[in-house]
Amino acid sequence: MKINLSNIKKAKNFLNKGECVAIPTETVYGLAGNAYSDEACKKIFKLKKRPRNNPLIVHYYDFKKVKEDCYLNDSFFKLYKKLCPGPLTFILDLKVKSKISKIATSKKNTLAVRFPKHLVTRNLLKELKFPIAAPSANISSRVSAVTSDDVKDDFGKKIKYILEGGKSTVGVESTIIDLRKKPKILRLGGLDVINIQKILGKKISINNNPSKISSPGQLKIHYSPGIPIRLNLKKIRKNEACLFIRKKKINRSNYYFLSKKGNLREAAKNLYSTLRKIKKDKYKSIAVSKIPNKGLGKTINDRLLRASKF
Ligand code: TXA
Ligand code: MG
Repeated sequence: MKINLSNIKKAKNFLNKGECVAIPTETVYGLAGNAYSDEACKKIFKLKKRPRNNPLIVHYYDFKKVKEDCYLNDSFFKLYKKLCPGPLTFILDLKVKSKISKIATSKKNTLAVRFPKHLVTRNLLKELKFPIAAPSANISSRVSAVTSDDVKDDFGKKIKYILEGGKSTVGVESTIIDLRKKPKILRLGGLDVINIQKILGKKISINNNPSKISSPGQLKIHYSPGIPIRLNLKKIRKNEACLFIRKKKINRSNYYFLSKKGNLREAAKNLYSTLRKIKKDKYKSIAVSKIPNKGLGKTINDRLLRASKF
């Protein structure tokens, strides 16, 4: 993707004025504001209709600035060296002297920190004098946005500016790891946990059970396209959209597939855009056929399970 410097400048100017802009990341688009500014962070919560007790992820260019805000430990540096920038978010202890807005942290003494890989947003971050708070650019509890058009569909003219970055290549949100004590995964995401286990040299517990909410954002109902979803379908109902992991030999107008050959990475990339497409095509419900529960398939199943609680 070509970098358009004048677009980056526009986004920068809005952010400097305390406005919110949408930014592309490799996972999903984010709704960004100055993480030091209470006013900018308030705007983010308002636009997203997000409950104030659900803290925001703060995005940095590199680890150097994070030192002003958080305590960094060995596990952090091991993972950072190998996996950042990339689809991984760290939960770290916040320093008392940190300038991060208490609105962004929901007054918690921890901070979610991420280093997005998307070059457009990296260029923007490099230009800014502050880190940016950016939750996914969608209305709270709904499907995330993976293109600038998705963001437009959700917010219309309410957002001052959308920084164009093409379609997000990962397509699902970052994996969240809590590094404060014994490392544990709080949200499955675009980075397969196996990569983390290899680097840290141990098995990492996954604590994202929808029935045991460990962080406010791990809500039971989330990522919903706004219509009911049934999982592991065997029988298809009339007038229902059917979602398959791989392309079928027979194709019907109500059949949707996530990947030509059942590649889970490709399927994750296409998940949200396909859910949005089904809704746009006016179907009233979705039946999903079984998706292998390995690698990024685990993340896809996690999102579909939460979306099915709608
Ligand atoms: O890929 C991503 O992570 C995208 C892009 C834009 O970076 N962002 C994203 O943000 O998914 P959001 O706000 O939709 O999801 C952030 C999650 C929420 O579930 C929130 O509860 C959790 O991170 N979170 C934020 N701060 C936290 C903290 N201090 N402790 C535990 N969980 C936290
Ligand atoms: Mg979100």
